[in-house]
Amino acid sequence: MQMLHWTLGMLASALLVVACGGEADEEQAALRTATPAQVAVAATYDPQTIEEGAANYGVYCIACHGAQGVGIEGLGSNLAESEFVHRLSDAELLAFIQEGRSADHPDNVSGVAMPAKGGFPSLSVAQINTIIAYLRTLQAL
Ligand code: HEC
Repeated sequence: MQMLHWTLGMLASALLVVACGGEADEEQAALRTATPAQVAVAATYDPQTIEEGAANYGVYCIACHGAQGVGIEGLGSNLAESEFVHRLSDAELLAFIQEGRSADHPDNVSGVAMPAKGGFPSLSVAQINTIIAYLRTLQAL
C-alpha cells in the first residue's frame, strides 16, 4: 500500500513537470517575438487588467481615438504614437484623463476638445486605470 502511494506520487510529479514545461515553452516563444516595451508592459500589468482596459477603451474612448488608439481625424488624436502619453506616468495620465483638455487650452494640438473622462462623468478611477494599462500595450514609441 505504501509503495502504491509512492508510485502514484512520483507519477503525479512527473506529469506536473511535463505540464509546466509546456507552458514555459509557450511563454518563452511569446517573449522571443515581443518588443522590449511589450515585455515590460506584460511584466507590469496583470493580463486581466489589460483585458478589462481593452473592454473599457472600447466603450469610452474608441469612438474618438479609434481601434488600437490610431486616432480618428477631427475626433481624437493618435494615442499609440503619442509622445505625451509615452512621457506621462500612470498617475499623470490618470489626472489628465479626469480633467481633459479644452479646445482653447494652450497644449491643445488639434483645436478639438478632449472631454473630461471622455465625456463620461461616471467613469471611475479604477476603470481609467485599466484603460491606462491597455494604452501602454498600444504604445508604438
Ligand atoms: C469625444 C471625443 C473623445 C473621447 C470620447 C475621448 N477623447 Fe481623448 N482626446 C480627444 C481629442 C480631440 C484629443 C486631442 C486634444 C488636442 O488636440 O490637444 C484627445 C486627447 C487625448 C489624450 C492626449 C493625447 C496627446 O497626445 O496629447 C489622451 C491621453 C486621451 N485623449 C485619452 C482618452 C481616453 C483614455 C479616453 C477614454 C476614456 C478618451 N480620450 C476619450 C477626444 C476624445
